[in-house]
Amino acid sequence: MREPPASQREIQRFANLLKAGEVAAFPTETVYGLGADAANSDAVLKIYETKGRPRFNPLIVHCADLGMAETLAVFRPLARRLAERFWPGPLTLVLPRKDGARVCDIVTAGLDTVGLRVPGHPVARELIRAAGLPLAAPSANPSGRLSPTTAGQVRRAFGDRVPVLDGGPCAAGLESTILAVNGDDVVQLRAGALSRDEIEAFLERPVAVASADSPVSAPGMLASHYAPKAKLRLNAVEPEAGESYLAFGPGPVSATGRSLNLSQAGDLREAARNLFAMLHALDRDEGTIAVAPIPEEGLGEAINDRLRRAAAPKK
Ligand code: TXA
Ligand code: MG
Repeated sequence: MREPPASQREIQRFANLLKAGEVAAFPTETVYGLGADAANSDAVLKIYETKGRPRFNPLIVHCADLGMAETLAVFRPLARRLAERFWPGPLTLVLPRKDGARVCDIVTAGLDTVGLRVPGHPVARELIRAAGLPLAAPSANPSGRLSPTTAGQVRRAFGDRVPVLDGGPCAAGLESTILAVNGDDVVQLRAGALSRDEIEAFLERPVAVASADSPVSAPGMLASHYAPKAKLRLNAVEPEAGESYLAFGPGPVSATGRSLNLSQAGDLREAARNLFAMLHALDRDEGTIAVAPIPEEGLGEAINDRLRRAAAPKK
């Protein structure tokens, strides 16, 4: 059953929970987050426990606006330009942490940088503003599993353990793009809902992509991640007998087994929005999900990144 969109009262109730040191799930335009007061180490520990997340993996801190973000990190001119252009929106900036920032050390996993973003979903910003707190929040899924793009998926994953503020289905459906910005250097640590093309067009120069041996990296970029329970077979032009099929683009889909289409029109934005929800939907059984080839351009970079991690052998 769907709840009505979050009311002011609901938002205030969740803000009070967060101020009291509880964890709560909330909507963003990318995926649902599991939030807590970023300065409260007991509250942040509850996030790690709830998700079963490795402790070395730092969390993104969500702010209501650039002003709040500036209390936590040093914004040199390039970082400020990116923030002014793309916030609110699906971009996380990894920046030098400011002295005295109200962020506990387990949020940054002991690094001298902090990952920050101002979410595009108005309910997320209203919640942060009502709480008056920057919120540390990873995606609201058990560690290693598919990220949730609806309140119902969060409830199915955590049951009564986590209150969920329902803001409807996420518009982007893929996590934020992460850029580490150090002075004039920019490195993409994670492909995401803001395509690298768009960032490069704005900066009028190419953006480097972090690899496993880069000096900076996102510690959370494990080979196996975003994984459904089913096996995944990528670049499948058609399904084999018994497989579910996740198609992309026009054309008939085999009648055998269950199949869904990421985007009949071949639109990568629509495909990104549908990716996790459709993997969730096809993941009810064990077995194999065959996935159609996705072009490696625009948002295809992030979609293929998630698919490769979802298909990687689980440890
Ligand atoms: O769209 C999103 O980014 C969602 C929503 C909830 O905002 N959040 C999300 O969080 O995807 P999470 O925890 O699943 O992924 C955060 C990533 C991890 O790979 C982590 O290693 C990286 O961000 N990260 C956070 N702070 C960092 C830092 N200071 N340096 C390098 N990587 C960092
Ligand atoms: Mg995640």
